[in-house]
Amino acid sequence: MPYIARVVRIQRVRRILPNILISHVVGNIAYVDDSSHRRARDTAKKYGDKYRNAEFRLGEIEHLPLESNTVDYVISNCVINLSPDKLQVFRESFRVLRNNGVFAVADVTLPKDIPEEAKKDMDSWSACIAGALTDSEYFSLLKTAGFQDISIEHVSSTNIGEYPFPYFSSHIKAIKRT
Ligand SMILES: C[S@@+](CC[C@H](N)C(=O)[O-])C[C@H]1O[C@@H](n2cnc3c(N)ncnc32)[C@H](O)[C@@H]1O
Repeated sequence: MPYIARVVRIQRVRRILPNILISHVVGNIAYVDDSSHRRARDTAKKYGDKYRNAEFRLGEIEHLPLESNTVDYVISNCVINLSPDKLQVFRESFRVLRNNGVFAVADVTLPKDIPEEAKKDMDSWSACIAGALTDSEYFSLLKTAGFQDISIEHVSSTNIGEYPFPYFSSHIKAIKRT
């Protein structure tokens, strides 16, 4: 049975990747989160009860609790920007994917680097902005991890609120070909 490694909440994935989730609903879904706080547990329980093929695994996206070459899709919504080591996240995604496996995530990206001061601001980090990669950094790190056919699509662009610089909501896709 194929695995779909997921680092996201199912309701968001449905919105982002409806066809993929539906067409692979017969497979197994591993929901990975590094937190066992109540919201994560409740989400895991809710979907674990509803879908017998969904399970919750406590773990970090930098060290996925999944065997190598066992996963068809790595999907995620707004988590990778929070990681302090994005290259390790991409390497781990590459490791667990099977040949021709798809990395397809939603994340914040930046058109250009933001000021150093903004990067240190923990409010901006937790708002998923300060830890975000630029498009070219995302592309380059995925390539370094071994991915091919990399694409970044901007779904929306904004500079509203308290951040005086633009950022994108992006869909990033890449393929593992070995
Ligand atoms: C901004 S929320 C993501 C939102 C969620 N994916 C959604 O679509 O609603 C960030 C989530 O990622 C988890 N997280 C943050 N860093 C992580 C890491 N290094 N490994 C695994 N999970 C992480 C947090 O515990 C939290 O549940």
